[in-house]
Amino acid sequence: MSKGNNINYLVIALSNGKLFNPSLKLFKKLGIDLKSGEEKNRKLTFFNPEKEIEFIITRPKDNPTYVEYGAADIGIVGEDVLLEENKDVYKLLDLKFGKCKMVLAAPAEIKQEKYDQNHGYRLKVATKYPVIAGNYFKEKGIYVELIKLYGSVELAPQVGLADVIVDIVSTGRTLKDNKLVIREEIMPLSAQFIVNRISYKTKHQRINEFLKKIEQIIALESAELEED
Ligand code: PRP
Repeated sequence: MSKGNNINYLVIALSNGKLFNPSLKLFKKLGIDLKSGEEKNRKLTFFNPEKEIEFIITRPKDNPTYVEYGAADIGIVGEDVLLEENKDVYKLLDLKFGKCKMVLAAPAEIKQEKYDQNHGYRLKVATKYPVIAGNYFKEKGIYVELIKLYGSVELAPQVGLADVIVDIVSTGRTLKDNKLVIREEIMPLSAQFIVNRISYKTKHQRINEFLKKIEQIIALESAELEED
């Protein structure tokens, strides 16, 4: 049974993937070691009895769901997921690591007006983020066909599945290797500290103490968290 049922325990949901190692480093700097989390195994929960913390490891997209339902008190999650999933959680702090951008990208040869206006043509947009992409084109008044994919989105324009993509760019390597160029930067993104609404009341003091310490670390050394 989850130790999260013990009111003293704080349950923290970490996202696996790109935010996982910077999150571990952040907790190390707080003096909370998650040694077993660094081992390569399939365990998804870890306890630090001394600090009364339980860590759970989620798929990035599921992270805010665990927090919304109170299975976790706190989550560390990408802003892209928060915007796309629109869960009912408090977003309390920008952690300033995991920085990347949501962009509109296209093959270099596509002419600008093809995606600036409709011209009687319905632009095909491949994306893992139909909500973000849909809002973006709606605001521009451009009527598009959204094609939802689950990964390797950069493939879609090359094989004629889509004209353009809306996706995340971090180093820019994937775009470059697939001969796509950024046509517009939609928004900057970074890791966010989220909290369950009820936990924020019932565990207010603990969460705020935590938040203050994290704020201090982030202000001084957020870039260090991403170093190898
Ligand atoms: C993300 C994103 C891009 C890539 C960008 O995909 O969707 O494809 O990373 O990173 P870069 O600018 O550093 O090259 P991810 O690695 O999560 O894999 P996926 O396509 O299978 O979702």
